Amino acid sequence: MEFLSYGKQWIDQDDIDAVSKVLKSDYLTTGPTVKKFEDAITNYTGAKYCVAVANGTAALHLASLVLLKKNDKVLTTPNSFLATSNSILYARAKPIFVDIAKDGNIDLDLCEKELTKDSSIKAIYAVAFSGNMLNQAKLKFLKETYDIAILEDCSHAIGAKDGNIKVASCVNSDISTLSFHPVKHITTAEGGAITTNSEDIYKKLLILRNHGMVKTPNMKPWEYEMRELGYNYRITDIQCALGLSQMKKLEGFINRRIEIAQRYDEAFKDEIIKPLYTYNGKSSYHLYVVKVDFAQIIITKADLFNKLRKKNIGIQLHYIPINKQPYYISLGYGNEQTPVMDRYYKKCFSLPMYPKLSNEEQEYVIKSLFEVLNG
Ligand SMILES: Cc1ncc(COP(=O)(O)O)c(C=O)c1O
Repeated sequence: MEFLSYGKQWIDQDDIDAVSKVLKSDYLTTGPTVKKFEDAITNYTGAKYCVAVANGTAALHLASLVLLKKNDKVLTTPNSFLATSNSILYARAKPIFVDIAKDGNIDLDLCEKELTKDSSIKAIYAVAFSGNMLNQAKLKFLKETYDIAILEDCSHAIGAKDGNIKVASCVNSDISTLSFHPVKHITTAEGGAITTNSEDIYKKLLILRNHGMVKTPNMKPWEYEMRELGYNYRITDIQCALGLSQMKKLEGFINRRIEIAQRYDEAFKDEIIKPLYTYNGKSSYHLYVVKVDFAQIIITKADLFNKLRKKNIGIQLHYIPINKQPYYISLGYGNEQTPVMDRYYKKCFSLPMYPKLSNEEQEYVIKSLFEVLNG
């Protein structure tokens, strides 16, 4: 059995052909394929504007430069990849970690409590964790009631929907961000994107993506002006060619992920392994997270990881609470009251979940998991 990691890409000959075509063209970067990829994302998500960038972290960084000012307080989740809250620090603003709900997403009721206590809070940075859409009615309510900025980190969740609201459509947020790392639903190798419905935000992002440089029609032909401190966060046409080709397969990829999730749901019915949530029609399943009460069984979590690795199965833990990372502790974090996150961290891990995982491979994962758990 080849190594079954928790996530991996699916590249076909047509993806390779699309990339080769761009490699033979005049534009390897800043060419027409970037805009075509951005258009594919706006068409798919329903957001008005999209800015594609070098990776999902760059997307969060630029979003934070637009949404936040120095010392702004931002409610965010400990259950994410580091980049979500790091981006708040990049903007010299202040993350405030709020506990998660049972589905792994930030607890929006607790966010509301924080907002009622402290009217100086400026934003919520929420993650559609594992591909599970954030509660849109609650986001709408919070945005309207407390006049805050909302960022949805949708790196896990392209294709997710809540009724007819699609993830990254920004119906109830100012900005959404996406990542196209190979473990995600579609890949550009490295790559990311920002979506928004605000023309003003869109224009700022375009400038920040390209060194803060502006060129207007009334300037001399050689002139450009740097008006603020931007970055080179451009994505290449080569990456966008891959992304465009992958976008054509996205629905198929998501359907296959849902099938895999439902097969796992079925296998774990009435077992000691419990899914974090069963199929709910809202998740596009970047991750399939399960929980096991290790206090009730003989094997430790570390043994489980090691024994499965020997069987060529790479389960993974998403995530170590960000506020407990040494760097965050050095900033004074780490003692927040997050009992749900603490329990989650003790019990949860992610199983292989990617469209190319065959039924036989999934059976092997399930069988091996039971074998190891039962000693
Ligand atoms: C929730 C979340 N946000 C942001 C990122 C950062 O994306 P990238 O790896 O493309 O920089 C990731 C990537 O793993 C992620 O999972």
